[in-house]
Amino acid sequence: MPEHSSVNSQAARLLMDRRKFSDMRVESLDATPRAADGEVVFRLSRFALTVNNVTYATFGDALGYWRFFPTDREGWGQLPVWGYADVAESKVDGVEAGQRFYGYWPAATHVKVQPGKVGERSFRDEAAHRAELPEIYNWYQRTDDDPLHDAQTEPLHAIYRPLFITAFCLADFLAENNFFGAERVVVSSASSKTAYATAFCIRQHAGIDMIGLTSSGNREFVENLGLYDNALAYDDLHSLDLGTRTIYIDIAGNPQLQAEVHRFFGANLVYDCSVGAAQSLVPPSPPRGLPGPQPEFFFAPTWIAKRYADWGAGEFNRRSGRASQAFFDYVADNGLIELAERSGLEAAREVLAEMIRGDTDPAAGHVIEL
Ligand SMILES: NC(=O)c1ccc[n+]([C@@H]2O[C@H](COP(=O)([O-])OP(=O)(O)OC[C@H]3O[C@@H](n4cnc5c(N)ncnc54)[C@H](OP(=O)(O)O)[C@@H]3O)[C@@H](O)[C@H]2O)c1
Repeated sequence: MPEHSSVNSQAARLLMDRRKFSDMRVESLDATPRAADGEVVFRLSRFALTVNNVTYATFGDALGYWRFFPTDREGWGQLPVWGYADVAESKVDGVEAGQRFYGYWPAATHVKVQPGKVGERSFRDEAAHRAELPEIYNWYQRTDDDPLHDAQTEPLHAIYRPLFITAFCLADFLAENNFFGAERVVVSSASSKTAYATAFCIRQHAGIDMIGLTSSGNREFVENLGLYDNALAYDDLHSLDLGTRTIYIDIAGNPQLQAEVHRFFGANLVYDCSVGAAQSLVPPSPPRGLPGPQPEFFFAPTWIAKRYADWGAGEFNRRSGRASQAFFDYVADNGLIELAERSGLEAAREVLAEMIRGDTDPAAGHVIEL
């Protein structure tokens, strides 16, 4: 099969110390990977970085994120990222050099996969080391046949697509449970993309008051999103009235805040949904003896698997696709973020270091071009 010229470009990868994430290094490889029979080599083109990627490292051991793209270096991992890559070399029928795919990649210039099921629009990486990992991460979508794909909006899609799908599923899960009888939803790390995409989806359901909790420096940003009924700094939690049945969506993963929320709302806290760990570099564990409901972890891939079974993958994709288009339009029409496009793995290292330090500007949409 023909080779793409980029197969010969210098290969490199970003390695992260699995114990101390701020220790990262960009390593050049002596040779670009080559495809054997049944394999495809991809050249990464563009990927997004958000705090979600740092959380992959936080849960790298607990949830297996280091196992997607294993390295030969003890103690060092390759961080998974979402974005776009082109086929550099293929020894698989149905996957052709030059085709562009969206999916889950390592922070590296190249990666080798083993497409098993190859469909008209997608394939599944059947590499043995990925077999036990959640299904949703193992599928790659061809962009030329993707109704959501548009070269102009690709950077925005790289940023929001994986986060929006969580938001869509979370709102769907809460609606399916009649919001546990709540009239109000309080979300922490409200300035995060996952949080405000969730607010966007929940707003489609009438009668729910959306409160965003955020750091004082991000309060104005959250207010200007136009997606929350009220934006409060963390210290102002106590200004909320106590008589309203409330759901807590925990995206910050801050156990002190979580305890505060439980103590404050008492019996009117009807559900505590753990979604993220934006403020933590270790898997947060809920404080012991919390009053009220026990926190329940929400893992989007599990809900997607349920909806695939309920609705079929096609219907799930139609519904989530329609919703995400509306969200992307909202983001673009209201200029919610400014793209910060940079080039190379060294730039990726700098952006991640900034996020690990907690210097994240929610108004910046980080995209790395390779
Ligand atoms: N369970 C799931 O299936 C699932 C799926 C997708 C995402 N998530 C999780 O949702 C979280 C948000 O991800 P995202 O990509 O949407 O984030 P993002 O848009 O990059 O969010 C940035 C925000 O996170 C907070 N933050 C970040 N670093 C911090 C630090 N070191 N100290 C304090 N606050 C910090 C700040 O919000 P505030 O100032 O508002 O606190 C900041 O504005 C992640 O933990 C991610 O893994 C979970």
